[in-house]
Amino acid sequence: MTDSIHFEHAATKSEKYQSLFPQIAALLASETDQIANMANVSAVLKEVFSFWWVGFYIVKQEELVLGPFQGPLACTRIQKGKGVCGKAWATQQSIIVPDVDAFEGHIACSAASKSEIVIPIMQQEKVIAVLDIDSEYLNHFDEIDEMYLSKIVALLA
Ligand code: SME
Repeated sequence: MTDSIHFEHAATKSEKYQSLFPQIAALLASETDQIANMANVSAVLKEVFSFWWVGFYIVKQEELVLGPFQGPLACTRIQKGKGVCGKAWATQQSIIVPDVDAFEGHIACSAASKSEIVIPIMQQEKVIAVLDIDSEYLNHFDEIDEMYLSKIVALLA
């Protein structure tokens, strides 16, 4: 397997995702363990985009339980429908939150987090986990992030 990810620091966001996608695909193709792959996806996204917090919550019984992540410590369990993550699970839809203070029910694991994106990971029409990314900047995420992150998490299913 590769031991590092190559990207241009000065590249645009789209260019970074475009160069990243085949490298992540190759990285995941050589490993079947989902936890190991989630761990490396968190590490790569954190390294390339310097997000405040990048990680996974995994569906276990009727809860989301904290999985592999990069960043400060986080809440360990989220109920279905609660917070941004629980809502993305319940609705099976990605959610972009430009301002977490304006999102009713947002779960503040870190006071530094200002905006957020959550992408559900689907397997046989069920959500098996969600990818959650937090930023310390308002309005950090858009449809470009949603499109590429959806493609990346589809590799984990
Ligand atoms: N803010 C999330 C909880 C997880 S932390 O951000 C890592 C939410 O509202 O679901």
